[in-house]
Amino acid sequence: KEIFLKDYKAPSFAFETLNLKFQLGEEHTVVTSSIHVIPKTTGGKSPLVLDGENLKLVSVKINGQKLGDDKITVSARHLTLASMPSTPFDLEIVTEIEPQNNTSLEGLYKSSGNFCTQCEAEGFRKITYYQDRPDVMSKFTTRIEADQKLYPVLLSNGNLVDQGKLTDGKHYAVWEDPFRKPCYLFALVAGQLLSRDDTFTTCSGRQVLLRIWTPAEDVPKTEYAMESLKAAMKWDEEVFGLEYDLDLFNIVAVPDFNMGAMENKSLNIFNSKLVLASPQTATDADFAAIEGVIGHEYFHNWTGNRVTCRDWFQLSLKEGLTVFRDQEFSSDMGSRGVKRIADVCRLRISQFSQDAGPMAHPVRPHSYIKMDNFYTVTVYEKGAEVVRMYQTLLGKAGFRKGMDLYFKRHDGQAVTCEEFLAAMFDANQTKFPTFPLWYSQAGTPVLTVTTSYNAEAQTFTIKCRQEVPQTPGQPEKEPMLLPLAVGLLDSKGHDMSLSSVKEGASLHNFSNPDGSSVTTAVLRVDKAEQEFTFLDVKEKPVASLLRNFSAPVRLVSDISDKDLFFLLAHDSDEFNRWEAGQTLGRKLMLNLVTLQQKGEKLRVDDAFIEGLRSILIDSSLDKEFVAKALTLPGESEVADLMPIADPDAIHEVRRFIIKQIASNLRQELLKAVKTNPSAELYDPTHKHRAPRSLKNSALAYLVSLDEPALTDLALHQYKTASNLTDKVAALAALSQNPGEIRSDVLANFYDQYKGDNLVTNKWLALQAMSDIPGNVEQVRKLLEHPAFDIRNPNKVYSLIGAFCSSAVNFHAKDGSGYALVADVVLQLDKLNPQVAARMVSPFSRWRRFDEGRQAAAKAQLERITSTNGLSDNVYEIASKSLVA
Ligand code: ARG
Ligand code: ZN
Repeated sequence: KEIFLKDYKAPSFAFETLNLKFQLGEEHTVVTSSIHVIPKTTGGKSPLVLDGENLKLVSVKINGQKLGDDKITVSARHLTLASMPSTPFDLEIVTEIEPQNNTSLEGLYKSSGNFCTQCEAEGFRKITYYQDRPDVMSKFTTRIEADQKLYPVLLSNGNLVDQGKLTDGKHYAVWEDPFRKPCYLFALVAGQLLSRDDTFTTCSGRQVLLRIWTPAEDVPKTEYAMESLKAAMKWDEEVFGLEYDLDLFNIVAVPDFNMGAMENKSLNIFNSKLVLASPQTATDADFAAIEGVIGHEYFHNWTGNRVTCRDWFQLSLKEGLTVFRDQEFSSDMGSRGVKRIADVCRLRISQFSQDAGPMAHPVRPHSYIKMDNFYTVTVYEKGAEVVRMYQTLLGKAGFRKGMDLYFKRHDGQAVTCEEFLAAMFDANQTKFPTFPLWYSQAGTPVLTVTTSYNAEAQTFTIKCRQEVPQTPGQPEKEPMLLPLAVGLLDSKGHDMSLSSVKEGASLHNFSNPDGSSVTTAVLRVDKAEQEFTFLDVKEKPVASLLRNFSAPVRLVSDISDKDLFFLLAHDSDEFNRWEAGQTLGRKLMLNLVTLQQKGEKLRVDDAFIEGLRSILIDSSLDKEFVAKALTLPGESEVADLMPIADPDAIHEVRRFIIKQIASNLRQELLKAVKTNPSAELYDPTHKHRAPRSLKNSALAYLVSLDEPALTDLALHQYKTASNLTDKVAALAALSQNPGEIRSDVLANFYDQYKGDNLVTNKWLALQAMSDIPGNVEQVRKLLEHPAFDIRNPNKVYSLIGAFCSSAVNFHAKDGSGYALVADVVLQLDKLNPQVAARMVSPFSRWRRFDEGRQAAAKAQLERITSTNGLSDNVYEIASKSLVA
């Protein structure tokens, strides 16, 4: 059942064209698939093996002739057709499916009465028998027949070429997609939908009709998605010279969707939460996510659709690259520094911990049981870091040259990560021999740096040691190329201009194309141990290492606290300025955890408070940056740094520091709340989001003190807020403290929003991720609440996903948190294995905890794996978690 990259074989049958006919019905749907097949192997009539799951086979015809039963073998996962012609032929397969009973939300299914599809990665095989693999590319024509009243709108990929009425109140539409594509990009939507329409004129003058489809009442909430789409189309033309290639672009929002969204050719399908927004129903974070994901799916049209993956091991070819592109898009739309900080946070919290656990895998995995389990932060976010490193090494212009060559060579093809790498290197006439290892080695490299200044010689030396840790199945690792971006600060806190650096025997000179001096050097660290010496360094500098997080590594350096405070105050690199504060925060938290475990008194030194104070009162800084700088490292980040994670101690310590900051900076925080009121008219752009984020961080600090006057401040904001961002921020602040006020506002919020699922989900999540003691019982109760529905993935993520993010409650000593999640996993696995498997992941780091918790978590994992009829999805995550 396990599939390996090394076993890849090209298909022996090409599918040149595919005509699909869907007869959509309430009891069953009939799918007729007519394929023009071109055998690739000469001589020998080899069998044609097609993938298929949960299909009822009706008939098979070859060149119009019924194929005899003796030539047909049907198994649970395949249809094997024997003695196929060795010359091109027409294959027609008729199958029956029941989309209304499909709870897995892959293949063709129903969501709120409408038909929709999700085929990536391997969902097309739940629609019809097919070679369900991305290197089989075909020209699709799709005819949809359905009841006209129930399903007035019929959509598929490409251009609408015909439509009309049929008998019995039915109608039909025919869609033709001129671009060859793999079946994972197929989409169909049928239902009662209305659209917001707009147009975009491309750089070459093509008029593109843009339509965003939702149920009638939601159309007003699609304005921001439409603006984001137009911005994305423009951005891709300007930054990458990539133009849209059809006259129509559709987006459909559906409430039941396993993931975020899907880039089906010209018919993107989205989880509603990533399309629908209004000031009163979505927060700043939602608006930002919509912009990013609308961009992401649109960008896939070139990086994913026009050039696609040869096989699923290459997923990062399209996902890493497209995440990188959406990150850059969002940076250009908002604040580059803040976006980078947010992206690195996510990488460190989720991906670094995945890379250190039993599910660790390279950006290009070597094997999988269920591909859906490999839509991971490693493939996506670490993959994006790998793409970013090309840009750091080759420069923006060099990166663009590589992209241009990539499209020139591979437009219309299904390719591998090597081909992307080759385009990048060839376009720049360069080669970095150890760079490809990023695709094959799992684990986060540890980069240890020590520095020394020689006053006499005026040199500054940076000594690097890199080690890639062992991961499951990979006991030995090679050093790989890490771009280390370095700046040197003089005693005034200004960047020194860097002239040259010596590495071994070679001397690199730095200069900008425009002749100005260089203040950030990119060192190429590619050996286990290596030294770089900067020349002409006039005074002892403070080194700013790994600027902009130039490589996805754990940096360990000998930098002193004094220098970290200096960087926090002065670094010109916004990311590293923030990072200096985080490094200090992590050290502080780890020190206090040791005290806490020994039962000693906790204390926060003045320097830390003063460092934060100066950031908080510096009016020259971007306020969203200030909000980020005020945020302490997360509990899980600290847990990752401990030999045995102690969630209770970490939580106590973090709460303690928060309260210390709040009481010491009370005046400044109050001022931040009072001087940053939201404008009456809500605006999601960075300029307006920034003061809101600072105000709301300040508010959360103040409310942590649990004093009546401060609580009132939040209550006032809760009651008077004119937008959901402020309202939810006040609610979140208030619900930190157990008691009557908390339960009152929560009840009030539900009352006000119970008609709106997306907002109600925030209400579920807020309670589920609460750290208040004994919350496990509360979450168990919420499973029975009318606001919850286990069939809707958003609700599962809001309740169970959010619950797992509260370490004190998920890792409750008595094992009750583990039992709760395992109960849900087993119940959900029968309905939706993909989502169930996602809920198993929080268990995977169970070995990081004390013996008691280990035993409790292991018992639940064993309970899961020993359950009869378990899906491959859940089995893979649970069993791998137990083995490693
Ligand atoms: N290609 C989609 C995206 O990145 C993700 C779809 C993944 N779906 C799945 N069931 N694994 O935008
Ligand atoms: Zn994607």
